[in-house]
Amino acid sequence: MHPMLNIAVKAARRAGDIIVQASRNLDLLTISKKSRSDYVSEVDGAAEDVIIRILREAYPNHAILAEESGTSGDVQDAEYQWIIDPLDGTTNFLHGLPQYAVSIALKHKGILNKAVVYNPNNNELFTAGRGDGAYLNNKRLRVSKRIHLEDCLIGTGIPFRDLTHVEAYLSIFKDIIPRVAGIRRPGSASLDLSYVAAGRYDGFWEIGLAPWDMAAGALIIKEAGGLVGDLEGDDTYLESGQILAGNPKVFSQLLKIIAPHLTEALKENHRAAKKKK
Ligand code: IPD
Ligand code: CA
Ligand code: CA
Repeated sequence: MHPMLNIAVKAARRAGDIIVQASRNLDLLTISKKSRSDYVSEVDGAAEDVIIRILREAYPNHAILAEESGTSGDVQDAEYQWIIDPLDGTTNFLHGLPQYAVSIALKHKGILNKAVVYNPNNNELFTAGRGDGAYLNNKRLRVSKRIHLEDCLIGTGIPFRDLTHVEAYLSIFKDIIPRVAGIRRPGSASLDLSYVAAGRYDGFWEIGLAPWDMAAGALIIKEAGGLVGDLEGDDTYLESGQILAGNPKVFSQLLKIIAPHLTEALKENHRAAKKKK
């Protein structure tokens, strides 16, 4: 395994240990509210601290973008930039629902290069290196081969914090329901994306994500032969927060279903993201 990926795996496992330990005593946790429907616990911070400490020890000059502590180093121009979600699925974690993960990605010269998504509850470790493929616990991953939407299981995330695009989201949802075998909303975007890579879902879409929710999972999908874009199929998902992913056949079919539901606000969101890129 590449040394940088190895360090990221070590950091993710260490954070996973802290999270699992804390999950045994949820009653003891101090929980605060960042905003409506946005909770954070001391575990998110402790997991993030350990990840950053391990990455910094190995790579003191790399920039970091982390959900809880923000940025350090020159995030725009650094050659290497880590993108960290120490606990993706905090709401599940706080409810004792074992569907959450540690997500760590590395960008090299602005391009996603390494990725780790680790579910400490079942010890599933998803990894990818650009050009090196995607793996689940050392087993090579490929996206599903399903081509008929009626056979497909689709993952999604229902908006709950920022409700700006909820009407557009629901109209997309309504249009997809009758065409597929089922829709799932497990509550951890990094795992959802990893499941597309593993062929468990055939496609996935969500609006309103942050870069740390998507960065690692997106590379894992690409390295498993899948496609990732925003709701217009463009490469601005990290900047816009709207994401569509799937095996290539399903991706293009979902893109067509979504197109008529794109509101002016979603298109503007996409245009603004394009400028930022
Ligand atoms: C959340 C999860 C969830 C998604 C939210 C994210 P968090 O991350 O990934 O599935 O729907 O938009 O914010 O806050 O638990 O790290
Ligand atoms: Ca997250
Ligand atoms: Ca988080």
